[in-house]
Amino acid sequence: MAKFFFHSYTLHYFILLQLCIFSTSSARPSINVLNYGAKPNGITDSTKAFLDAWTAACASAYSTMIYIPKGRYLLSPLVFQGDKCKSPAITIRIDGTLVAPLDYMVLAKSENWINFNKVSGVSIIGGALDAKGTALWACKAAGNYNCPTGATTLRFTNSNNISINGLLSLNAQMFHIAINGCENVIVQRVRVLAAGDSPNTDGIHIQLSKSVTVMNSTIQTGDDCISIGPGSENLWIEGVRCGPGHGISIGSLGKDVEEPGVRNVTVKRTIFADTTNGFRIKSWARPSNGFVQGVQFVGALMRNVQNPIVIDQHYCPHSLNCPNQESGIQVSDVLYQGIRGSSATQIALKFDCSSTNPCKDIKLQDVNLTFLDQEAQSSCSNADGKSLGRVLPENCL
Ligand SMILES: *[C@@H]1O[C@H](CO)[C@@H](O)[C@H](O)[C@H]1NC(C)=O
Ligand SMILES: *[C@@H]1O[C@H](CO)[C@@H](O)[C@H](O)[C@H]1NC(C)=O
Ligand SMILES: *[C@@H]1O[C@H](CO)[C@@H](O)[C@H](O)[C@H]1NC(C)=O
Ligand SMILES: *[C@@H]1O[C@H](CO)[C@@H](O)[C@H](O)[C@H]1NC(C)=O
Repeated sequence: MAKFFFHSYTLHYFILLQLCIFSTSSARPSINVLNYGAKPNGITDSTKAFLDAWTAACASAYSTMIYIPKGRYLLSPLVFQGDKCKSPAITIRIDGTLVAPLDYMVLAKSENWINFNKVSGVSIIGGALDAKGTALWACKAAGNYNCPTGATTLRFTNSNNISINGLLSLNAQMFHIAINGCENVIVQRVRVLAAGDSPNTDGIHIQLSKSVTVMNSTIQTGDDCISIGPGSENLWIEGVRCGPGHGISIGSLGKDVEEPGVRNVTVKRTIFADTTNGFRIKSWARPSNGFVQGVQFVGALMRNVQNPIVIDQHYCPHSLNCPNQESGIQVSDVLYQGIRGSSATQIALKFDCSSTNPCKDIKLQDVNLTFLDQEAQSSCSNADGKSLGRVLPENCL
């Protein structure tokens, strides 16, 4: 804990914490959605009431709080637009559950269910979001090509100084939480829950964003627990439990020729249980000017993970537009330190890098991954780096 306090990130965290404490104090104007016509019965559509409450909060010259009391609120897709807001900070305190309509088409006609666009200083405290995605997953599982893609449950786009604290997201149609084009975001004590076989239900997706922190969260879902897309910088992820799910993934990157890189990502104290991957870096086998630089995977416990440590630069789904090409994504300066546990397959450590842009400066330190209580194996191609301390399986760098 003492070490934690020396990190400059801590400062940023405490500033945000103060913002939260301040914003929940009774001194500031509070807007109750019930006074705007919201009905906590789970049946009456409360979308307009929520939007009207937002408009009122947003028009205030002061920091405001929107209060959502206990109960279930039926909501269609909605956008909380922030570019004309006067209020410097809006706290949304949710004691209730926001529920999607049973007919999945209502959300699926939109890209997002609850979308914050161009907001700054927004904090969400508590609450549950139930997107009722199971019927759409069933449609997709039946191999029906007419199923819609589905909506992301909660998205922040082009926003700053955001805090999400203590939220529960259930059964998203697509991603649960997406952070896109944002700066200064803290997500903490969040719980994400969806079936292990639910398609494309990434827990937290981050892209084109800077200074995003994810702390002390539990993610059980059908796709990546956390996925990190192009243009992500200065991310701090700590105290995450993942599984079921596809692990923590940087990528897929390099789908486009012109693409911003991923820089300075730290992932600490992770627990993976029964996931398909642990730490994965993944790029398309296509030309691109993107990159991955400065990643630290520090301290992880893996239990029955299929690919505990993996770099896959030959991603080419359906063998379309990529076979026989190499990835342009340059991966460099990646540290794996203090990682132990069990692999569900013999190859616990796999670096399958690009032949045109080999991985550079990969460091392995104090790694101990076993397979069926025996030593696991590793496999490397086009990867350069070194190992420090004890590394099992025997590294192939
Ligand atoms: C975000 O918060 C920081 C520190 O509290 C503040 O200096 C900055 O102006 C805020 N940015 C926006 C866009 O509100
Ligand atoms: C996260 O959890 C750790 C260990 O349980 C605790 O010490 C720390 O205060 C928590 N931090 C946040 C931001 O919740
Ligand atoms: C890396 O990101 C962390 C936040 O995760 C930040 O505190 C640190 O200053 C960044 N380092 C650089 C070199 O930008
Ligand atoms: C690696 O982990 C296994 C299983 O937990 C343990 O039995 C073994 O002693 C460890 N090896 C080292 C070198 O720490």
